Amino acid sequence: MAEVRVAVLGAMGWMGKVHTMAYQTFPHFLGTSGGTARVVALVEDHPNAAAELGFRAQGAKILRDWRDAVQDADVDLIDICLPDSLHYQVAKAALLAGKHVYCEKPLANTAAEARELADIAAEKGLITRVGHAFVRNPVHDLAKEIIEAGEIGEIKLFKACQHVDMYGDPLAPYMWRANGDLAPTGIVGDTGTHVFSFMNFLVGRVTSLMSDNYIVTTRRPVVSGSALGASSVLRGDEEWADVTNPDGANVLCKFANGARGLIDFSRIATGRKFMQTYEIYGTKGSLSYTYDGVNRLRFYTNDDDIGRRGYREIDVGPENKTYGAFLPLPNFALGYNETKIIEAAEVIRSITTGRPVWPTFEAGHHICQIVDACMDSARFGRWVDIS
Ligand SMILES: NC(=O)c1ccc[n+]([C@@H]2O[C@H](COP(=O)([O-])OP(=O)(O)OC[C@H]3O[C@@H](n4cnc5c(N)ncnc54)[C@H](O)[C@@H]3O)[C@@H](O)[C@H]2O)c1
Repeated sequence: MAEVRVAVLGAMGWMGKVHTMAYQTFPHFLGTSGGTARVVALVEDHPNAAAELGFRAQGAKILRDWRDAVQDADVDLIDICLPDSLHYQVAKAALLAGKHVYCEKPLANTAAEARELADIAAEKGLITRVGHAFVRNPVHDLAKEIIEAGEIGEIKLFKACQHVDMYGDPLAPYMWRANGDLAPTGIVGDTGTHVFSFMNFLVGRVTSLMSDNYIVTTRRPVVSGSALGASSVLRGDEEWADVTNPDGANVLCKFANGARGLIDFSRIATGRKFMQTYEIYGTKGSLSYTYDGVNRLRFYTNDDDIGRRGYREIDVGPENKTYGAFLPLPNFALGYNETKIIEAAEVIRSITTGRPVWPTFEAGHHICQIVDACMDSARFGRWVDIS
């Protein structure tokens, strides 16, 4: 059984915790035939790192500088859970040092950077993966199976949205996510890329788009130690920082297969704690999904008799191998953390077998092309082509 030695970068953050847990957990559910992972290094520049990370992965080195992990001969896989603006430089250094790379989304700040990363990985024969885990819920494998079997015919329209309300309150504190230097594309690279990953997985490539990006609250109070999306009680002497990347976007797009897309996403949808939906309309049927029923697909087909037509609700269950690995009964719900466990297992298996699994940096490049096109379209106020 092959063991992959992993360094998790940004280990004290949300994703750092989830990824570390995922490596340790996946063998319990998904077995070890695809290899195992050992977290050998946790990288974090937070001052409490040594105290907080000591128990997370037995025997792991606690490092402050990501360069030390990249140059460490005992590390096979660099797992990047750092703020967006660092992804490109860290991934590039890791690939050049001969490491496999698993990078949180967005893969890079621009499509040109993503192209460079995908090219280096291809040239060096390294495994890559972008952290678009939502799509790894088995319910979306079912959607893809239905589409590929032709059960909804030719796809003509894709509608999707993803909204949160962490910045709905104008007093929600400033954080790196609102800083155009640390997160250059804001919500487009953040929530937008999740929607784009569904588009790429279920419909295909995008050839052109038009995007209206917007900022709702232009300045936010800087309140250290506040939770994501918390409201601040102003004392009157706090600093304020400018929000320098988009809070939301409304996008129209065209796909290579002729389908049209209508997508909206934001971080300002007050009351929407987490809303993620898609609807896919074809010439013979349609599919619809919402995160509120995260393991449920709604399927309509013209093959049903007239008078009996309507959406049927399909709860993915243990007949799906991946779902069955976690739960013996349907509708017990596989949630967010399970998709990360599935993703980590796939990353490890792709390294031990040498067979990459979507979304690699190649797919990450196309998703970055969509992000670039959204930013350019909003800047120039016109449709933008993607080659
Ligand atoms: N796939 C998903 O569903 C998903 C969800 C959330 C976040 N993300 C992505 O994951 C990445 C991390 O997001 P998060 O929510 O975990 O952020 P976070 O702020 O919770 O964590 C980032 C961590 O990196 C550390 N850090 C920052 N700069 C560093 C440096 N130079 N060296 C070492 N450590 C450093 C911070 O101290 C922090 O602990 C982002 O790119 C984000 O877009 C993906």
